[in-house]
Amino acid sequence: MSKKIIVAPSLLAADFSKLREEIQEVESHGAEYLHLDVMDGNFVPNISFGAPVISSIRKHSNLVFDVHLMVENPDRFIKDIADAGADVITVHAEATKHLNRTIQLIKSYGKKVGVALNPSTPLDFIKYDLKDIDMVLIMTVNPGFGGQAFIEGMLQKIKDLRSIDPNIDIQVDGGINDKTSKLVKEAGANILVAGSYLFKGDYKQKIESLR
Ligand code: DX5
Ligand code: ZN
Repeated sequence: MSKKIIVAPSLLAADFSKLREEIQEVESHGAEYLHLDVMDGNFVPNISFGAPVISSIRKHSNLVFDVHLMVENPDRFIKDIADAGADVITVHAEATKHLNRTIQLIKSYGKKVGVALNPSTPLDFIKYDLKDIDMVLIMTVNPGFGGQAFIEGMLQKIKDLRSIDPNIDIQVDGGINDKTSKLVKEAGANILVAGSYLFKGDYKQKIESLR
């Protein structure tokens, strides 16, 4: 696998009292994406932030804004998230009744399409939509919280997807650190989200250790 490894710090683990500095810090130390976790307290048992926060930080960063929508019926939010400055919009396959329609809606705003799969959701769910998807997000924890332990069984899922599609972007999210990053890269993942591991200590060293 020779796809470039992309590091996507998850803002959820940043210090919210100084978001602008936190973002500039990870940007200046070589991160390519900024992973933005939008939670509705319904699809997941937690609430985070939404379009207004994303549009305020957009002015202060050139990172690729990678928005992970953990919300029921994501179609309701896609226009606002697109207008707020997202570059990639990821929806959960489990959260929409008409996934293909949701994919087309994201494309209609000229944004890249990501589809996330919870740990128990099989790859088959998206088999017939893969051609329309830019990035598959393999959840390596159950979504909703930072700081959870990596689920080892997801390595096989990553390998299976990489063998089905050698070119698609495979993102992993949850429990990524200097040890699990090696395993997911070997399995075929190329976009690594990291929250609690990265936002503790020396950001530069942490970003480099994930590559
Ligand atoms: C979890 C979120 C993640 C979270 C990851 O539901 O989607 O992006 O911030 O946090 P860590 O890296 O701490 O597992
Ligand atoms: Zn996420």
